[in-house]
Amino acid sequence: MNARMEVPSFTLRRQIADIGKELSQTMETVLETGQFVLGPAVRQFEEQIAQYTHSRYAVGVGNGSDALYLALRALNIGPGDEVLTTPFTFFATVGSILRTGAKPVFTDIQVDTFNMDPEQIRTRITPRTRAVLPVHLFGLMADIETIRRNAKLFIIEDAAQAIGADLRGTMAGSAGDLAAFSFFPTKNLGALGDGGMVTAQAEELAESLRALRAHGSRKKYYHEVLGINSRLDALQAAVLSIKLAYLPVWTAKRQRLAKRYDDGLSALGLDDVRTPVVPPGFTHVFHQYTIRSGRRDQLQSYLKNRGVGSTVYYPLSVHLQPVLQDLGYRKGAFPVSERAQEEVLSLPMFPELSDQEVDYVIGAIGEFYGRRAG
Ligand SMILES: Cc1ncc(COP(=O)(O)O)c(C=O)c1O
Repeated sequence: MNARMEVPSFTLRRQIADIGKELSQTMETVLETGQFVLGPAVRQFEEQIAQYTHSRYAVGVGNGSDALYLALRALNIGPGDEVLTTPFTFFATVGSILRTGAKPVFTDIQVDTFNMDPEQIRTRITPRTRAVLPVHLFGLMADIETIRRNAKLFIIEDAAQAIGADLRGTMAGSAGDLAAFSFFPTKNLGALGDGGMVTAQAEELAESLRALRAHGSRKKYYHEVLGINSRLDALQAAVLSIKLAYLPVWTAKRQRLAKRYDDGLSALGLDDVRTPVVPPGFTHVFHQYTIRSGRRDQLQSYLKNRGVGSTVYYPLSVHLQPVLQDLGYRKGAFPVSERAQEEVLSLPMFPELSDQEVDYVIGAIGEFYGRRAG
């Protein structure tokens, strides 16, 4: 048995130790401007995100949940409308649809990718369906190409976990009509608080979003539609601009660590463990490195005892959440998603994780299954 190590599931301490000074400096410059909501720092960061995601427009908002809600509202989606989405996601995806008054309609996920099954979409479309809201879960894009072929509808990407991912060169954020990003601190590009962004390909949608994030006003103190107050802070934008320069290197580190997990785990030859699948043409940015195990709960406790943190994203599919009870979905409605909730386990993953730590995690998984690594 290897000497005990403590391997956190996630930590920001190492990143702050690396670049904390640079972040403090940029915050100082914002303090000097005296402008803290929107303003030049936000405009600059919006341009950088538009460029990075190959999008025509980007609109900074308060958080990823509002980004989704405002994207739906920009398309005039509301009561009486249906939006197709996945039940295997963070609640915000579905919560944003409910907030508009529209109805979320689910399709099951693919076994291998955890993403919306694009072939099932056709059977779910009704005259009320207005949009598809696929989620790029764990950092792997949903199959937008097939979704687009199967549904002549608006597409809103939930790209909260997938900044930098691409599908045959099309970046997350520019594959649909609109896309929502989250800069929650644990995301691949994380602020020092909440933050979000909507990317858009059409000017009129970008203009609607700018109005909707400011109580529906295009001209100050004149309100044409009911919006909300959801704007990106200048301090966060300045921090995010600095961090964006590091993102390609951080993403490459995540991908390298994922490869190390892949190789180490496959060398153990465990029938019960399935490592993440990346279909041809897709670039995974490994927001999470999520395995499947038939003995997930025991494995998680074993790892915990060996000092290894891990997380279950997500233990209950959204269609089974109590708040959705009125929609009448029952257990068994989406079997692939329901099976995933029993089997998924996200292993430690962040750019500053060391090779030794990854090897220790692989070794501990091997011990659990009675195998020796290497
Ligand atoms: C898939 C997904 N959608 C939406 C969100 C919501 O983002 P936020 O926490 O910034 O509101 C998150 C992250 O929390 C997420 O993981």
